[in-house]
Amino acid sequence: MDDNQITYPFVIGHRGAAGYAPENTLASLELAYKLGVRFIEVDVMLTADNHAIIFHDHTLDRTTSLKGKVSHHNWSQLQGQDSGSWFHLDYANQGILHLKDLINFANEHPDLILNIELKPRLSNSIKTTSLAIQQLKKDVQNPERLILSSFDVLALKTAQMLWPKCYRALNLETRYPGWSTIAKNLKCKAIHIDQQQITSGFIQRCHRMNMAVRCFTVNDPSRARQLKAMQVDGLFTDKPADLFSHIF
Ligand code: G3P
Ligand code: MG
Repeated sequence: MDDNQITYPFVIGHRGAAGYAPENTLASLELAYKLGVRFIEVDVMLTADNHAIIFHDHTLDRTTSLKGKVSHHNWSQLQGQDSGSWFHLDYANQGILHLKDLINFANEHPDLILNIELKPRLSNSIKTTSLAIQQLKKDVQNPERLILSSFDVLALKTAQMLWPKCYRALNLETRYPGWSTIAKNLKCKAIHIDQQQITSGFIQRCHRMNMAVRCFTVNDPSRARQLKAMQVDGLFTDKPADLFSHIF
């Protein structure tokens, strides 16, 4: 797996195009792609019966017609549930995606770079990562265009052991002590960090470590321009069309 050939686009569709369509749904992925986004981030977690699904919150309440914890539901209870009308009634037909659906989408769009953010719940980092990797290794046609990222260090450690060649990125909400040693030991190629944490010094430090810096979540075009001028390598955005039209 050689990613030296790959140019990573600056604009990254956050949960697809979460500002324009319900996050982490097929509609959101399709819209992002249609808008010209070629680098998309989604979140992955496990159901009670160990299906990897594309979902952000650990509870169903905000974005589906169901309530309660994702981890208390089997895939058969989640499959086909309305995951779109919370956003707009036009999207009532959008269901929760299985990791297999996401892989199919990626295989149908071979020019896409896919960032899978592993979101294990407490104490299932190893299981979440190994089951996701098992499926990804089996079915993804362009693994060199895949990035596995996580806030969860054990998830990334598991990814490093099970799939050392797959691109890893460490997610940071804050620049906690020891982050750089962790990223180095995990052989991460990038840091994905909250935009409020960014300084020029931090960017330079990551670049000296040969790590790219990408920031989440940037929807304001003037802030995007500012971060671009600071040499950030990528921006996760809910509103890719707004950034395309204002910064390029
Ligand atoms: O992976 C970047 C970003 O998605 C991390 O935060 O909470 O939006 O998943 P969150
Ligand atoms: Mg995410």
